[in-house]
Amino acid sequence: MKERKEKYLTTNQGVPITDNQNSLTVGERGPVLLQDVQFIEKMAHFDRERIPERVVHAKGAGAHGYFQVYKNMAPYTKANFLHDPGKKTPVFVRFSTVTGGRGSADTVRDPRGFAVKFYTEEGNYDLVGNNLPVFFIRDAIKFPDMVHAFKGAPDSNIPSASSAHNRFWDFISLTPESTHMITWLFSDRGTPESYRMMEGFGVNTYVWVNADGEAVYVKYHWKPKLGVHNLDRHEATRLAGVDPDHLTRDLRETIARGGEVEYELSVQLMEMADELKQMFDPLDSTKTWPEDKFPLIPVGRMVLDCNPENFFAEVEQAAFCPASIVPGIDFSADKLLQGRTFSYADAQRYRLGANYLQLPINCPKVPVNNNQRDGAMQLGLFSGPVNYEPNSLAGGMPKEAPAGTPRVYTIEGEVTRRKIGLTNDFEQAGERYRSFSKMDQEHLVDNLIADLMYIDKPIQKRVIANLTKADTELGRSVAKGLKL
Ligand code: HEM
Repeated sequence: MKERKEKYLTTNQGVPITDNQNSLTVGERGPVLLQDVQFIEKMAHFDRERIPERVVHAKGAGAHGYFQVYKNMAPYTKANFLHDPGKKTPVFVRFSTVTGGRGSADTVRDPRGFAVKFYTEEGNYDLVGNNLPVFFIRDAIKFPDMVHAFKGAPDSNIPSASSAHNRFWDFISLTPESTHMITWLFSDRGTPESYRMMEGFGVNTYVWVNADGEAVYVKYHWKPKLGVHNLDRHEATRLAGVDPDHLTRDLRETIARGGEVEYELSVQLMEMADELKQMFDPLDSTKTWPEDKFPLIPVGRMVLDCNPENFFAEVEQAAFCPASIVPGIDFSADKLLQGRTFSYADAQRYRLGANYLQLPINCPKVPVNNNQRDGAMQLGLFSGPVNYEPNSLAGGMPKEAPAGTPRVYTIEGEVTRRKIGLTNDFEQAGERYRSFSKMDQEHLVDNLIADLMYIDKPIQKRVIANLTKADTELGRSVAKGLKL
């Protein structure tokens, strides 16, 4: 079709619109006619502009960039994008807060999401992490309870983004394994100054598998080139009022002016044989692996240098999922990770629709060949009569890819619903408090008191009992501040 020089308004059917100001009415004063199909199309589309917000991590900001390895990681993983230092793998990253809704402020105390989509030559790999290295719970079956307790109450919808409420602390105080996470969240890391200045962590334990089928446990760490910088609670509270989009704006404006947004990826590796030799369970996501025993191995760097052109298409419709892995990366038995592998794509099929992976932001940059067909909003124009495998009518295509040497492993045990044996809920929380500078200890205590002062006494007492088990001085200082 000939390209038009001038750009006229049209309906969605491509029909020219000659009047975009006035409804079609009987006489100049109305009423409006049902046959004003131009009005009906426009309004009906507007009525559907919002899609369900993410059930968590609703407020976010995104950027495009690339990732490059420093050296070939083939001894540990056959993941192709981790082999060639000369190769740049395109990435899309979305940073987010967790608890607040789509319109909430960026600087409230909350973990921050750090989700990276690698568009590799073997399909998309998502590393869906947070800015804190541990989590509140260790079994995914508790996640809906946790999120319910953190978000608005069912009767009042209060609060919209804050942890200073009974329901948050009620759940936390009855969940002793959350004590370690509390020492991270209530340090100033709970209020990062900028998405460019926070770390990222895979949190869960994954498995790397090399071309010989040999496996090793792996934990991921992102380090910002600019170092870690946080806001104190007073500044965070001020900014939530005067500039609720502070972190979103900072990321966008920095990239727009060609500023630096860069992170280094490192991993910690653990031999499978060493799994049961630790003082903690390495597959427990409320624990970190000590860096003196499991040193950080630098893997590569990620640069973010391109802003999205359209927020809805690229950021709102982005779908990250810990189940999106590529050959060379596998799941551990970590019970939090196992639940996550189901939850994300399930949420996205509801939030975005059955064919959400066909949206440009989610679509792999390599061909997708299979016999999945139809469904709402199908974009594929599949030709020919063959939509099944095995087939001979389409020359047997598409066919199974060569498998290589698989990782072979056996799992056995009794079928049970049971907590892990080695819980060790308080040791790392105490170690973390004792590792802080005097100022960081004071900030942790002050941040805790600032929240807990609004909380009912019996809940306060339970929180203090847990903090005391982590470190007596920490428990005592918070109790003193609360006049208990
Ligand atoms: C069992 C525990 C968890 C469950 C069931 C869960 C589930 C979910 C769901 C359903 C979403 C919304 C997905 C969407 O609509 O696109 C989400 C978003 C997210 N989750 Fe989790 N989550 C869990 C734990 C975690 C942990 C431990 C981390 C960090 C390591 C994490 C990081 C994220 C991030 C970064 C996002 C936002 C992704 C984006 O930017 O679109 N989640 N989670």
